[in-house]
Amino acid sequence: MVCIMSGASRQLTLFLYGCCVAALGVQAEEHCPAERHQAAQYVAAVYEHRSILSPNPLALTSRKQALELMNQNLDIYEQQVTIAAQKGVQIIVFPEDGIHGFNFTRTSIYPFLDFMPSPHLVRWNPCLEPHRFHDTEVLQRLSCMAVKGEMFLVANLGTKQPCHSSDPGCPNDGRYQYNTNVVFSSNGTLVDSYRKQNLYFEAAFNTPPEVDHITFDTPFAGKFGMFTCFDILFLHPAVRLLRDSEVKHVVYPTAWMNQLPLLAAIQIQRGFAIAFGVNFLAANIHHPSLGMTGSGIHTPLKSFWHHDMESPEGHLIIAQIQLEDTAGSVPDHCNKANITNALSAMPLPSDSLDSDEKPAVTLIRDMGLIPGPGRSHMLWSN
Ligand SMILES: *[C@@H]1O[C@H](CO)[C@@H](O)[C@H](O)[C@H]1NC(C)=O
Ligand SMILES: *[C@@H]1O[C@H](CO)[C@@H](O)[C@H](O)[C@H]1NC(C)=O
Ligand SMILES: *[C@@H]1O[C@H](CO)[C@@H](O)[C@H](O)[C@H]1NC(C)=O
Repeated sequence: MVCIMSGASRQLTLFLYGCCVAALGVQAEEHCPAERHQAAQYVAAVYEHRSILSPNPLALTSRKQALELMNQNLDIYEQQVTIAAQKGVQIIVFPEDGIHGFNFTRTSIYPFLDFMPSPHLVRWNPCLEPHRFHDTEVLQRLSCMAVKGEMFLVANLGTKQPCHSSDPGCPNDGRYQYNTNVVFSSNGTLVDSYRKQNLYFEAAFNTPPEVDHITFDTPFAGKFGMFTCFDILFLHPAVRLLRDSEVKHVVYPTAWMNQLPLLAAIQIQRGFAIAFGVNFLAANIHHPSLGMTGSGIHTPLKSFWHHDMESPEGHLIIAQIQLEDTAGSVPDHCNKANITNALSAMPLPSDSLDSDEKPAVTLIRDMGLIPGPGRSHMLWSN
């Protein structure tokens, strides 16, 4: 599979490590008038995780060694779930690459990959049925955390999918390798999964043969959409998902390097929440030396965010999200129906993914909604 790089990606490379935004702590800001009434709500959490990384991601390791490393990260996840559970959290999101790390080759990542059956084909609770499939240790732990915390849990891991040489797309080594998000319900059932479409220099992974447009249902807040990191800049699947007017929330694991002027993590997350009128749950990894920080729970009305270039520690953000439809009481750009109209007017190329795409970032910028220097106090306030 060829990974198509857009102009945006070249710009990203250019600005790599170019950011030194210094804002500390969780900030909350309002940018549309808040409504004053009682409303149904849910409690969400995102965890900015400082992942424990393999000292040499190019080296070949055994599955046992890979699991030892990943279990250290999963131990931290489990502590966070316990803390979140005490605060009544109903859904928690962990970042991209948080369990296995990054900079692998296709071969060196292999011991880090779990096998994952399609949740559309088998109903499976890895915590309750640990022996049903081999090489599923990470999925088992995540599932058990969801059970223990009695909350929906979203995480990102590497997965492998064996294929046959009769499949023309099947790589020479006989398997697809995907950068995958998984969702577990509060009883540990694997509800759905999403394979990252727009890879960002990730030699270890394959681009899925067809785009996953994934939404999942929750008893507390209805439909969520799901995609990963670089995907946020593209029509498929990010913008396309938001055409479904029932999708009012998005979960977004990311491993994002901040780039000025228009691609700082908080900025793009918040711009997306406002522009599309959705609640956006974004979990980034925390590696300030690589410019990686910036997570948040963003509603069209308010952002709870964390951006910290100083502390070496991870950070848990918990926020209550109102379920009330904000239509009619807030400015046009905060109105979901209005946004859906705007999206319906966009051409959707069916036969070609790389032509005629209007990246989300352009749409948001066209609408004048990306906060930038001089326009917002978000990133430049003390
Ligand atoms: C990963 O690659 C980046 C860029 O090439 C490099 O700066 C960084 O140190 C690497 N990180 C690890 C953990 O190997
Ligand atoms: C577990 O959660 C799933 C998804 O929310 C639900 O469909 C299923 O009925 C639940 N199973 C049990 C045993 O409660
Ligand atoms: C929202 O709807 C109004 C009235 O239908 C329209 O004039 C306006 O251009 C729309 N705004 C956006 C951002 O789509």
